[in-house]
Amino acid sequence: MRPSQPLGLLTVMKKVQVLAVLLGVVVLVVYFMLLFSGPVTTTTSTAFPVVVTSWLGEYGVEGMQSDLPTLYVITPTYRRPEQIPELTRLGQTLMHVPKLHWLVADDATSVNQQVVDYLKSIGIPFTYFLTPMPQKYSRRWFGYLPKGVANRNGAMMWLRLRATEGVMYMADDDNTYDLRIFQEIRHTKKVSMFPVGLVTHTGLSTPVLRDGRWVGWFDGWISDRVFPVDMAGFAVSIPFFLSVPEAEMPYIAGYEETGFLNNLHVTIDDIEFLADNCTKIYVWHTHTQKSKASSREILDKKYDGTNLRQLQEVMVVN
Ligand code: UGA
Ligand code: MN
Repeated sequence: MRPSQPLGLLTVMKKVQVLAVLLGVVVLVVYFMLLFSGPVTTTTSTAFPVVVTSWLGEYGVEGMQSDLPTLYVITPTYRRPEQIPELTRLGQTLMHVPKLHWLVADDATSVNQQVVDYLKSIGIPFTYFLTPMPQKYSRRWFGYLPKGVANRNGAMMWLRLRATEGVMYMADDDNTYDLRIFQEIRHTKKVSMFPVGLVTHTGLSTPVLRDGRWVGWFDGWISDRVFPVDMAGFAVSIPFFLSVPEAEMPYIAGYEETGFLNNLHVTIDDIEFLADNCTKIYVWHTHTQKSKASSREILDKKYDGTNLRQLQEVMVVN
């Protein structure tokens, strides 16, 4: 029998390297299997959203009559102390926009009456949906969670059944909108794009144009995204949207926009660049600082029978 040779340091190192590479491959394969397994495929349908209230606004059908294409503004929202203030800012902007239907999709399983009452109070046509985020999508990838996706897909399901003309725009509840953005997108033929201010550390997300022609993208996170744009940076015409049945937004944090536009089979030739060849900023990706949990002092019995009980009704006391 041949005595076993002691392994040289080099051979051990090689084995360790091979093992490390193998381990890396296994980790990557498992990661991508999980990432792209059932729940995050781009075509999975959410449960049908519950349409809770649909209202044509103070002026009824007449208020919606005009030659303008209808603007469908989709706003995801969720219950928190800042919710009504956010909807107040956005709602009071939208009050100035003609021929608009506001699709407010709540990430909730039961009606938030405060929201419905507020929507009615401002008098514009709206539809309120219950579109809770399905539990299976609520796992985090590297700490990120896709936000507002069930809401947007729910509102888009409604559009597929009800809308025949017009333009849709995704307006998160916490951004800041100049009225001119609604004028700009109103006549979108297929897809329109424009700059968004205050996105990530670069402070801006926009298509890059040279001599009026598209040459690339400017965004803090290009990565492997085909369309590295912000949710507030594009609008889609309803006929174009309807021409691609079943196109949805994927539940992948960071890839919601590019995934949706890819599912719509958008090409660069389909895109109109607005806001004076993308030289103006008419929408800002703002954030509201989260307020601390309230002290709950308002719940003290000593305030029973006072106005604080009514005020409590219109607040989220947590
Ligand atoms: C950014 C993008 O602008 C979003 O469009 C995108 O969905 C999100 O990142 C993401 O990558 O997931 P960001 O400002 O970071 O948005 O997120 P939020 O403003 O907190 O949420 C986006 C929208 O979803 C808001 O309208 C918010 O009300 C809604 N949302 C958020 C829910 O409906 N449920 C939640 O649990 C959280
Ligand atoms: Mn936001």
